[in-house]
Amino acid sequence: MKLVHLVLSGALALSAMGSVAAAQDFDPAVEIETAIAAGDLVAGEKIFKKCSGCHKVGEKAKNSVGPQLNEFFGQEIGESEGYKYSKGLLAKKAEGQIWDIEALDAFLTKPKDFIAKTKMTFAGLKKEDDRANVIAYLASIQDTE
Ligand code: HEC
Repeated sequence: MKLVHLVLSGALALSAMGSVAAAQDFDPAVEIETAIAAGDLVAGEKIFKKCSGCHKVGEKAKNSVGPQLNEFFGQEIGESEGYKYSKGLLAKKAEGQIWDIEALDAFLTKPKDFIAKTKMTFAGLKKEDDRANVIAYLASIQDTE
């Protein structure tokens, strides 16, 4: 019994250390480059037509039904100024969640599975390629100044 307990607490300590290291090592610029390299930008721009009814990008893009997506990648979730996010999203934000590739991939697969009670009423993108391509496209247009 004691041994099991020791092994378990050891594993927990290791995984806790791992997540702290991951947070410290996180570099938004590297994440953006990785995302761009992993997808097809032209195909991703086409997929974005499924999003553009609710999300604006590019010069002068404003929040509309959803927040503008010029500046979000690699940042904490829910950071678009003046946008009224759902309580569900704000609860996830309070956990320190960042929009990295993994989080975006999970969110875009099925928004409500990743953020309980999100107000993004979008069924999701079932195809892995479609997600990788739209994530690459969004990464490529980020305003990183
Ligand atoms: C029917 C409207 C609608 C569609 C279509 C839609 N979204 Fe959203 N999106 C929203 C809303 C509303 C929110 C705010 C969610 C919340 O507060 O819970 C959101 C939030 C987001 C966020 C979080 C941004 C932030 O500031 O943290 C991302 C990223 C996102 N959407 C990407 C996409 C992508 C990519 C697509 C297309 C594949 C898409 N959305 C399609 C309405 C939509």
